[in-house]
Amino acid sequence: VEQKATNVHWHEGDIGRGERAGLLGHRGATIWFTGLSGSGKSTVAVELEGVLHKLGVLSYRLDGDNVRLGINRNLGFSAEDRTENIRRVGEVAKLFVDSGVIALSSFISPYAADRDQVRALHEEAGMDFIEVYVDCPLADAEARDPKGLYKKARAGEIKNFTGIDDPYEAPQAPEVHLHSERQSLDEEVAEILALLRQRHIIP
Ligand code: PPS
Repeated sequence: VEQKATNVHWHEGDIGRGERAGLLGHRGATIWFTGLSGSGKSTVAVELEGVLHKLGVLSYRLDGDNVRLGINRNLGFSAEDRTENIRRVGEVAKLFVDSGVIALSSFISPYAADRDQVRALHEEAGMDFIEVYVDCPLADAEARDPKGLYKKARAGEIKNFTGIDDPYEAPQAPEVHLHSERQSLDEEVAEILALLRQRHIIP
């Protein structure tokens, strides 16, 4: 996105990421859940948040439905708006990481290029970006239909619904690949925790 404001400069403070990590006992990182509506992104994020909390690790969930009621309330589901949704959320997640928090982002984020942009934004700043593909066959997500949206999409009452008449580009090399229709929630959370420990993000 084009930078509109001129004469703006980054201002460095005295306390940095390292100091904040020392205070908290862990680093920040973004765990980026991507997958179809109803694939279980939010369910895994909520469970992981609870487990991290018990371990004394500060995390914060950024969730499609919630963010779209607030900071992104002016965005819909066109390709342009989805891209802008993900760009903004990526920047917000990066701020959380800088603050030392583990950002748990659950957005369909259907476009690989948008997710890669968020990854680059983090990696250029030396931050961990962990892409978690919550894989689930469309048939299973549609059978769950927790909000009745697939039913509406099939009936033509919702247009451009991901998986029905809008694309989903599956990640080619996610850090974690979950299969929510056949894995238990405990198993899924354990995989992510193992990676956080392996990377020494959490003790
Ligand atoms: S995106 O594509 O990443 O910008 O979408 P996201 O911000 O995650 O929002 C997805 C949730 O919005 C609801 N919803 C739709 N999803 C997909 N396509 C269309 N047209 C649509 N309209 C509304 C839906 O409840 C999604 O929630 P989840 O939690 O993914 O089921």
